[in-house]
Amino acid sequence: MAQLNSLGSWWWEVMSSNKNELTLPISAIILTGLWYIWTVSSSSNGRSPLPPGPCSLPIVGYLPFLSRDLHKQFVNMAHSYGPIFKFHLGSKLHVVINTPDLAKVVVREQDEIFANRNATIAALAITYGGQDVVMSDNNSDWRNLGKIFVHEVLSHKNVEASRYFRRDEVRKTSRNVYSKIGKTIDICEIAFSTEAKVLTSMLWGNTSEEKANGGQIAAELQIIVANIVELMSKPNMSDIFPSLAWLDLQCIERNMKRQLDRLDRIFTRIIHDRIESNSNKSKDAVGHEGKKDLLQTFIELMDQKNPTSIKITQIKALLLNIMVAGTDTTTTLIEWTMAEIMQNHDIMKRIQEELLQIVGPNKIVEESHLPKLQYLDATIKETLRLHPVLPFILPRSPSQDCVVGGYTTPKGCTVFLNVWAIHRDPRYWDNPLEFNPERFLTNKYDFKGTNLNFFPFGSGRRLCPGVPLAEKMQLYILASLLHSFDWSLPEGEDHDLSETFGITLKKRKPLFAVPSQRLRNASLYM
Ligand code: HEM
Repeated sequence: MAQLNSLGSWWWEVMSSNKNELTLPISAIILTGLWYIWTVSSSSNGRSPLPPGPCSLPIVGYLPFLSRDLHKQFVNMAHSYGPIFKFHLGSKLHVVINTPDLAKVVVREQDEIFANRNATIAALAITYGGQDVVMSDNNSDWRNLGKIFVHEVLSHKNVEASRYFRRDEVRKTSRNVYSKIGKTIDICEIAFSTEAKVLTSMLWGNTSEEKANGGQIAAELQIIVANIVELMSKPNMSDIFPSLAWLDLQCIERNMKRQLDRLDRIFTRIIHDRIESNSNKSKDAVGHEGKKDLLQTFIELMDQKNPTSIKITQIKALLLNIMVAGTDTTTTLIEWTMAEIMQNHDIMKRIQEELLQIVGPNKIVEESHLPKLQYLDATIKETLRLHPVLPFILPRSPSQDCVVGGYTTPKGCTVFLNVWAIHRDPRYWDNPLEFNPERFLTNKYDFKGTNLNFFPFGSGRRLCPGVPLAEKMQLYILASLLHSFDWSLPEGEDHDLSETFGITLKKRKPLFAVPSQRLRNASLYM
């Protein structure tokens, strides 16, 4: 959705190149008439009306009027049309929800009905046709994979057991930053590589190939994940005009399939390597070699002959979900948090005082310190309030017609929960544009979407299952970067908090920062 305005201008370019000057106005008048008749007849058959919304043009709907900063445009539209409004893109109906009360109807009262995703063509292309957890509709496969995700992948036990992977990688990052003292560092890059290496260790850490290749796979994944996020953020004519989908006019589907091919090659190699090495050992030897990694768990689930058994494609889709959903989100959050902290010196000082008090000047951060870092935790929450990584969560779609706020939300439409607007609404937050972590010290909010004034990880049955890991990783990486180093902007750089809209809300300019040594004892960096 990021550059829907570019679609708008694309449309105008096509239309203005029409040489026959009379055809356009006459067709427009006829189509507008038909559109009007259809709209009136469909809202006067006794059911609740559709939500209010702007007038649309025939065929293209509201497409030409969408701006580049869609999240800000939706706030303005909510001022004009109210807490729930609709617009058409092509023939597709979109509904935007802008208040906690109405979000509650979607994610609590009618959660089961609203648990479909209505995946885009790009999303289907990268997820083996929606065979994953993120983009699958609410069906028995999704429920089975969801259970595996919660009970096997990110269970409390598993997240605890993988603490050594996190410690190793965070220490390596610290060493890496120390070797670049006084030089300019791309914060996103270090956050991504730390997160990706932790995840690959958790996933297939016992694979001999991964041991041999070290961080190479993580580096390749970084490029692929960046490509996927970029393609997912592009508006796609094939989604808006399904009859044109076979043409794949912007080559989005083709490019996405190319990314999937690259990923599939990595995953196939790693899975086959594991199956082969398993068959060369006795069953007992597999278990005794050390801690079982997630790949081993998935392969054992595949070998089971019962209803919870999974197929090899589903294993690959799970690996993909963990790598894509787990890296880009956390990296984006860490970059925003560092940018806010560097702009607010008093907040940086207070976080570092807390770290000195809890960790001490002669130690480095350990995971056992994390639950005590309340001010840093509040700072992360405040960052997620002002810069929710997924500004509209992920789209939901009702499996049947239903009523929200007195308006019909038809089966199959795309529903955006506008968390970006709710998090900045003065009706729910005092001085909403002020960056003030204090508000999360005095009021307790969690990441489970219990209070729908604040739900950056979503809510209800499609709540992000990555919360336990994300919480640990973001706190651990940030605490280590801020305890071991002081940070300043490169000379001549100004603070910049402008954003660029996409499926994830990123900083317009990447954050570059210069570290300096903070702990006296140099051996703490080794
Ligand atoms: C700062 C970090 C993260 C943020 C802000 C975030 C946010 C979200 C949001 C908003 C959703 C949609 C929820 C909904 O529809 O109600 C989601 C879904 C999901 N997230 Fe995360 N996430 C993060 C980290 C992670 C991590 C680390 C993982 C896994 C390793 C992960 C895995 C998933 C999965 C599998 C889903 C799909 C759940 C479903 O549709 O059933 N996320 N996330």
